[in-house]
Amino acid sequence: MGSIGNPNFYCFEKFSKRGRNAVELGYKRKTWQIISDMWHPSTNPSGILSVGMAENTLLHDTLVKYINTNVQITPKHLTYNNGSMGSNGLRKAVSQFLNRHFSPFRPVEPAHIIMTNGCSSAIEHLSFSILNPGEGVLLSKPYYSTFIADISLRPESVVVPVEMGSVDPLSPEAVEEYKKAAVEFETRTGKKIRAVMLCNPHNPLGRCYPRATIDRLMQFCQSRQIHLISDEIYALSVWENRVDKETKFTPFESMLSRDTTGLIDPSLVHVLWGMSKDFGANGLRVGAIISQSNPELHMSHRCLSLYSFVSAVSDQITSSILQNNTFTDNYIETNRKLISQSHEFLTGILDKNGIEYSHGCNAGFFVWINLGKRYLEKHPEERNQSIELTDYLFEKLLVEKVYVAHGIAYGSSQPGWFRVVFSHPLPWLEEAMRRILRAID
Ligand SMILES: Cc1ncc(COP(=O)(O)O)c(C=O)c1O
Repeated sequence: MGSIGNPNFYCFEKFSKRGRNAVELGYKRKTWQIISDMWHPSTNPSGILSVGMAENTLLHDTLVKYINTNVQITPKHLTYNNGSMGSNGLRKAVSQFLNRHFSPFRPVEPAHIIMTNGCSSAIEHLSFSILNPGEGVLLSKPYYSTFIADISLRPESVVVPVEMGSVDPLSPEAVEEYKKAAVEFETRTGKKIRAVMLCNPHNPLGRCYPRATIDRLMQFCQSRQIHLISDEIYALSVWENRVDKETKFTPFESMLSRDTTGLIDPSLVHVLWGMSKDFGANGLRVGAIISQSNPELHMSHRCLSLYSFVSAVSDQITSSILQNNTFTDNYIETNRKLISQSHEFLTGILDKNGIEYSHGCNAGFFVWINLGKRYLEKHPEERNQSIELTDYLFEKLLVEKVYVAHGIAYGSSQPGWFRVVFSHPLPWLEEAMRRILRAID
């Protein structure tokens, strides 16, 4: 970038440093192009089939039917209504929904909630409010890749990846690695660590954090007076793993459900949730920050939330859904069953074709698969090539018109691994696997 030979050079030079960073990142980001040409058996048969985006299409028909039957738009929805932090009705609906499903230690009140247009905006808001440019957020590897941009692109804070080596990133022992990473960053840069970012249930590992780990992380954050952010966007997508019968699964416990007495100052604790995953509704763009003891954070968002204002249409749709206990109870239960079935189906195909995959997940929509191993078994002559195996296979998969998330982008240290999203109907997964096998065989 930025060379005289580049026709856009002069335009680029007139950008701010932040704008240039966004341009650089824009060149690297392929996902929007990929999903602009999404495969559909009848309307776009030559398109790209995505099992890379964390989308859950299993109950789309049910949700669309509900919305079209139950939601009415009125003149109020053409105004700014109750302002940019989310309508009073929406915050009330979210609070009663969370009180039913997250077992909060202290009931969630509408005043504890800031609505945002998606959790991505919520993360960015927290990063902007909590960190100065150059200060650090600890994030263990592997991670949800877009956390990096959410945290750092506009707020200009720094993600400090925590290397776990042979330690399970969800185990209590992992907290020692956070400590080491904090000391290393602060010594090297002279800047402070201000927060720990968690994803529980974990994307991409598909597991929940044990209580003992959360306790230690709370104590660690308290000792340094730093914030603890828990992204719980997959909270209700915890399901029965019918494949790994011997595994003991950790149940999901929201950070809202914990009595923080003696562990952490509650003003440092922030939980995120949204409609994108548990309701398979990424397109609504609805997220929430739940912060129960930090009035200043809420005050700051009176101004900041103007830039993450949820559309009145999405606000109204979400309020209607979340108020309807019968609908949401059935939806959540059916969703869990369907995810479980899709997981069993996909892993069955992987087993049949001898593809290694990660075992022991019971949450979220993903399974990690080792396409590199299978590829090198089939193509031993390519074993000593110096090419980056994940990049190479990623391109081969795109040639076969299938998009699978690139493991290295998620902080995986092992080349050849990919993240497959299986929260799709079975024929979709079957077609995806046909294309994946064609690409590597
Ligand atoms: C852990 C996690 N957080 C946030 C997001 C983004 O959520 P939203 O669509 O609400 O911006 C995703 C989407 O994949 C995610 O996996």
